[in-house]
Amino acid sequence: MRFIIYLLSLFSLGSTANLIIMQAIWRHGDRAPGDLPYPKDKYNETFWPRGWDQLTNKGIWQAVELGIWLRQRYGATVLPIFDKDKVFILSSDSERAIETAQGVSAGLFPPVDDRVWESSYLRYWQPTPIQTAYGTIDALLRPTKVKCPNYDLANEQEEAPIATQINNEYGQMFNWLQNITGMESIDFWNINDLYDIQRELDHNMPQPQWLNQVFNGTTIMDHIRELKRITRNQEFNSPTKAKFRGGMLVNQFLQNMEDLKANKTTKNAMMYSSHDGTLSALLYALNVSNDQLVPYTATVLFELYDDNTVQLFYKNTTSTAYPMTIPGCQQICPYSQFLQLLENVRVRSLDALYSLCGTYSSSTTSTTRATG
Ligand SMILES: *[C@@H]1O[C@H](CO)[C@@H](O)[C@H](O)[C@H]1NC(C)=O
Ligand SMILES: *[C@@H]1O[C@H](CO)[C@@H](O)[C@H](O)[C@H]1NC(C)=O
Ligand SMILES: *[C@@H]1O[C@H](CO)[C@@H](O)[C@H](O)[C@H]1NC(C)=O
Ligand SMILES: *[C@@H]1O[C@H](CO)[C@@H](O)[C@H](O)[C@H]1NC(C)=O
Ligand SMILES: *[C@@H]1O[C@H](CO)[C@@H](O)[C@H](O)[C@H]1NC(C)=O
Ligand SMILES: *[C@@H]1O[C@H](CO)[C@@H](O)[C@H](O)[C@H]1NC(C)=O
Repeated sequence: MRFIIYLLSLFSLGSTANLIIMQAIWRHGDRAPGDLPYPKDKYNETFWPRGWDQLTNKGIWQAVELGIWLRQRYGATVLPIFDKDKVFILSSDSERAIETAQGVSAGLFPPVDDRVWESSYLRYWQPTPIQTAYGTIDALLRPTKVKCPNYDLANEQEEAPIATQINNEYGQMFNWLQNITGMESIDFWNINDLYDIQRELDHNMPQPQWLNQVFNGTTIMDHIRELKRITRNQEFNSPTKAKFRGGMLVNQFLQNMEDLKANKTTKNAMMYSSHDGTLSALLYALNVSNDQLVPYTATVLFELYDDNTVQLFYKNTTSTAYPMTIPGCQQICPYSQFLQLLENVRVRSLDALYSLCGTYSSSTTSTTRATG
């Protein structure tokens, strides 16, 4: 009896609306540094079995766990099995993002029933297509790599006073770090190189004593983390900057919902594999950022329901998807209002982005598939 009452309360808590499309974008999993973090560091590439820049074993697990989590959340609605007509997975052209998409897919689509094709060694895995934007400008999933003079201009103007302030405040610490790390010079522009030490800490690699030394009341490593947070967010934390870097993605998510509603597509599970800067830009473009760094495999989720409402979530831990509310709406936001509130942030094509950026038209440089 108690159990039945519990079940009833569960049903009455949720709305009766049905999910009609889910969209997700995640950051890749735990990765190796791109290079030796600083000249005097002893953790060279030998310490990273899959090599510089690559997903680590830990990162593969994070990807698979995200897939399992998505299966638990959506397995009863839009993601029961792998269906090519319903599911779409697009990755940036980076190896770690592609591999993360593979890991997510492995966790999400273990073969069942007539999809079982092997009974022992690979019993729980089946292949699924992962699209990439190979050879094109990845304005959608790697917007930080797109040349955009007007963005640079806006960014430099905002950044200059902050850079000056930080270089002054931290001058002493930077000099001291220069000596100890063997870096030629350290300032606002390259202090982030040292954040790669965080990747070593994530892998329990013993660190030299100086990292725990206290400067102005805080340990060196905490200063490095905080400086990384400030400098990284500085790239996206205004409506103007966020539109340059996140406007195409906002448009894509809205377009996907519009297309489904207009019966232009049958896809109702659209997933994107990308990078911290991509998610940061998106969160700032939606005006819901928490001003923190984006953790590995953090995921933004868009859900559209058949009662014409949209819900947004940010899953930045292994288990919790935080409901996010775009300013001007409620968390359960009417679809038309959701579209209207984000209308000004949309960048509707690569040509529109180039025109915003003040660069050449896409037709003279390249074409993109990254909008599919
Ligand atoms: C990394 O350093 C170790 C010694 O700590 C050395 O044996 C190894 O050859 C180095 N690997 C590379 C790729 O330089
Ligand atoms: C040093 O500490 C003071 C007092 O907490 C603080 O106002 C200042 O911003 C700190 N400077 C740096 C470079 O951390
Ligand atoms: C640089 O570091 C060395 C030890 O690694 C130390 O002997 C020397 O005094 C340091 N110089 C400065 C300017 O901090
Ligand atoms: C972002 O949201 C804040 C309130 O949370 C609001 O003051 C600001 O105007 C919004 N920015 C844009 C560009 O909508
Ligand atoms: C889309 O298809 C559904 C089911 O066939 C139909 O009820 C709906 O009216 C169609 N919508 C549009 C915009 O054509
Ligand atoms: C995750 O996001 C929530 C909501 O913005 C925030 O309160 C929390 O501190 C974040 N945690 C991490 C690990 O980023």
